[in-house]
Amino acid sequence: MKLAILGASGGIGRLLVEQALARGHEVTAAARGSSQVTLPPKATLLRGDLEDEAFVREVITAGGKRDVVLSALGHRLPGIAPWHKPERPAFLQRSTDAIVGAMKAAGVSRVIAISSGGVGDSREIIPPVFKMFVALSAMKTVFASLEDMEQRYLASGLEVCIVRPSGLTDEPATGRVVIAKKYAGRATIPRADVAAYMLDQCEKPAFTEKTPSITVTGA
Ligand SMILES: NC(=O)c1ccc[n+]([C@@H]2O[C@H](COP(=O)([O-])OP(=O)(O)OC[C@H]3O[C@@H](n4cnc5c(N)ncnc54)[C@H](OP(=O)(O)O)[C@@H]3O)[C@@H](O)[C@H]2O)c1
Repeated sequence: MKLAILGASGGIGRLLVEQALARGHEVTAAARGSSQVTLPPKATLLRGDLEDEAFVREVITAGGKRDVVLSALGHRLPGIAPWHKPERPAFLQRSTDAIVGAMKAAGVSRVIAISSGGVGDSREIIPPVFKMFVALSAMKTVFASLEDMEQRYLASGLEVCIVRPSGLTDEPATGRVVIAKKYAGRATIPRADVAAYMLDQCEKPAFTEKTPSITVTGA
């Protein structure tokens, strides 16, 4: 498949690029000019402004129209989470609008993006202590922004899958991802498993889930 991977400098973004190439996909990756990233030579890396629809359109059409857009974009915090608000609060709002606009203009219909467990209706399945932690920390701002991003994608009319991972780790992939209906313990998932789940969804003829709360532990 021809894939566009946005946010290729991030923890999950890099793994998406590596795993997509290993699965034999053709990858155009994008990152902003200042991103610290070196990708395998088989990936095409374009640098530019992810809030700019024209740039995103270039990314998803360069080397042929992409079959699926994968966004690993998220907020960068200027210090240790969860006590710092996003460095650029409107980034997800603006980049989502740019991605949706560019996809419609280019005739690309499938997009898979990353939100978080506890956002939207998955708030109902997280433990009360985590809800309180979100409400009392700067995560409140991040979660509101992720919810706004989700709504923009879900209202776009595109074929959308928004993954809501539990706490991310850098452990190796387990291949044991489940969709949580309720969290009953410390819920974590390796970034490598999130990337693999996203690619599995891409490889299906249609996404099987719209907003899966994915985890390896704690469900
Ligand atoms: N941490 C957790 O436990 C947890 C749990 C559930 C969900 N999540 C969500 O999962 C997402 C992905 O995780 P991750 O570890 O892969 O995140 P990450 O390493 O922080 O990656 C975020 C990506 O977004 C890009 N980005 C941020 N602001 C940008 C801007 N203004 N312009 C262009 N690019 C920008 C970053 O580019 P640069 O490299 O240039 O900054 C990077 O590529 C997180 O953002 C978070 O919303 C996290």
